[in-house]
Amino acid sequence: MAKNREGADLTSEEDARFDKVVNDIQAAIEKEAEILYSKKVIMEANTPQNVGRMAKPDGAGAITGPCGDTMEFYLKVKDRIIDQISFYTDGCGTTTACGSMTTKLVKGMDFQEAITLTNQDIIKALDGLPEESLHCAKLAVDTLQKAIRNYLDGKEE
Ligand code: FES
Repeated sequence: MAKNREGADLTSEEDARFDKVVNDIQAAIEKEAEILYSKKVIMEANTPQNVGRMAKPDGAGAITGPCGDTMEFYLKVKDRIIDQISFYTDGCGTTTACGSMTTKLVKGMDFQEAITLTNQDIIKALDGLPEESLHCAKLAVDTLQKAIRNYLDGKEE
């Protein structure tokens, strides 16, 4: 239960006011996000797909971008097709959205086609990104390519 400044439990009236303030702040944040980001970015950031590290992947790659965020990709390939793919990031919501969208785009794709995916493909699939978030798409694509190259290196051994 929420406490007042003196550390005492809030009365039910104070509690209701507190909830209203929290809800108003939440609504304001969501409204601001809708101005900056497309619906798709918000959806992918809030409910990302294919999240998590993979045990025994066929290929894996991790890159820390200039902003300090790290992206990791893991994949399994079956008959040249990216059969399973997952990502993990400690980055912001936009980084998460880019990671999620990247996995959705390349799952089921021939790995040689997947390695040609560009930042623009991710940005387009997300219905655009604000200027300051464009590097998140690059981080996702670079990390995907690193994971595919890691898979190819393993095949050559
Ligand atoms: Fe750094 Fe998105 S803010 S990758």
